[in-house]
Amino acid sequence: MTIEELKSKFAGKCIVKEGPGGLPVIAVCNGAASAEICLMGAHLMSYVPNGRGEVLWMSSQSSFEVGKAIRGGIPVCWPWFSKNPMFEDAPMHGLARISMWDLVDVFSTEKQTIVKLALNAVPGYEQFWNYKFALEYTITVGATLTLSLKTTNKDDRPMRITQALHTYFNVGDITRVQVEGLDGCPYLNKVGDGGTGVRQGNRIIDCEVDEVYQEVKRTLVVRDGSIPRTILVNNFNSNSAVVWNPWIAKSQRMTDFPDDGYKTMVCVESGNVIEDARDIQPGESHELLAVITVK
Ligand code: BG6
Repeated sequence: MTIEELKSKFAGKCIVKEGPGGLPVIAVCNGAASAEICLMGAHLMSYVPNGRGEVLWMSSQSSFEVGKAIRGGIPVCWPWFSKNPMFEDAPMHGLARISMWDLVDVFSTEKQTIVKLALNAVPGYEQFWNYKFALEYTITVGATLTLSLKTTNKDDRPMRITQALHTYFNVGDITRVQVEGLDGCPYLNKVGDGGTGVRQGNRIIDCEVDEVYQEVKRTLVVRDGSIPRTILVNNFNSNSAVVWNPWIAKSQRMTDFPDDGYKTMVCVESGNVIEDARDIQPGESHELLAVITVK
């Protein structure tokens, strides 16, 4: 659907506009919060609960093109997280974040807006993912942000997915950030030679961090000593989470990431990753749910 067609179909329900790179972006605003979603990738680019400032970090150097990942916000990594286990040339973090989604509907009450998005095919990428599927993404924008990513297997074979809602949180000063809720969780360290470990205490970000946690059971808390704001992430149907900050050298290497970008962001990703992969039988569904609250 063109931007003009979207505008007339959803008139009165949300604002449809031409975003960066000419991509369709929808803006919603209610008595509790506002948000912006790019239909390329179903990518939440902004979430502002009233009086609490921008919760999501966006790169000032992101590309905005169909087929290229947007840097920042909340990329939807699906149906695989990280590298594809079978195809070396498959896009990193799957196909959902680089595909154009359908806007299904938008419902609003005074303090909540529900945006329903769908992806039912991945044209051009069938060599990497040839299952029949329905992917429904429901974003509820209010005093809290609720993200539901539901995969239904429409095929006659079981499918295995890994996935993540790869949230980039905006922080005031990374040297004063702690990620809480991972104490005692085993993790895979993806930096350097890697290895595994068990987190003791909170994760302070003082170097490149790329850790995939398993057995995550508690609320994840992003505590930011430099601004009076604490972010809570509650995940459901998920036992895994990823903490990522590229730090200095990797920020410099990434062309779509400002050199000093690492100072004001941390990714705390809600996932079904590695051992937490999910097998979905024909006709069945799996819903990954993340609830983000700002205190
Ligand atoms: C994280 C991965 O989830 O995403 C990292 O664990 C990766 O290894 C990071 O570098 C960013 O990925 P991308 O594809 O958006 O550059």
